[in-house]
Amino acid sequence: MNQKKIAGEKACGWVKDGMVVGLGTGSTVYYTIEKLGEMVRDGLNITGIATSEETAIQAKKLGIPLKSLNDVKQIDVTIDGADEVNKDFQGIKGGGGALLREKMVAAASLMNIWVVEEKKLVEELGEFSLPIEVIPFGWKQIKWSLEKEAIETELRKNDSGKVYQTNNGNYILDIKNQILTNPVEWQEKLAGIPGIVEHGLFLDYVDIVICGKANGEAIVIKK
Ligand code: 5RP
Repeated sequence: MNQKKIAGEKACGWVKDGMVVGLGTGSTVYYTIEKLGEMVRDGLNITGIATSEETAIQAKKLGIPLKSLNDVKQIDVTIDGADEVNKDFQGIKGGGGALLREKMVAAASLMNIWVVEEKKLVEELGEFSLPIEVIPFGWKQIKWSLEKEAIETELRKNDSGKVYQTNNGNYILDIKNQILTNPVEWQEKLAGIPGIVEHGLFLDYVDIVICGKANGEAIVIKK
């Protein structure tokens, strides 16, 4: 059973005619977007707000009309993936590097739905490396200042070994080997470091988590 597909497609049930819909990034929400493409072909009228270039390309191919975040006052519902979610509806996102746009789109949304596989539901955040998006100018200062607190980071590279750049032209440092027992403290710490544009902790955004299970069910967990 493809848990990503089951969860991704189920989320389309929250999308209604006339809505502005935030379109997340990643391999799970990919299935949401494919299904929305079918629904649009069948007459559904929506406007999508893409959280990455990759998602915009997919949506355009499927004929989903898009606008930029600057063109809408608010978004009715955003559907996105996540890398980890705990029982308090706190999560880590940014495995796909789109965390900044994803958070801006989530913040503008009346409702946020995450679509995940079962293994993404965790007791404590942090087994998945926490990404932070940093300004290339002086990025090493950020790395060094975290190192002073024994926080190990790794500059993200792409498959060809080049430094990964986000859609906003920034770098990503992935924080390694830290179990985030107090995510709020982490959020405050990271917000206080100059040059960090955004971090992948999404602590108060998601309303509904849809989890695809190995038995083929998609369970809906509401806040
Ligand atoms: C991209 C993200 C993704 O939503 C997250 O990495 C989950 O991706 P996937 O569904 O491929 O596991 O935050 O920046």
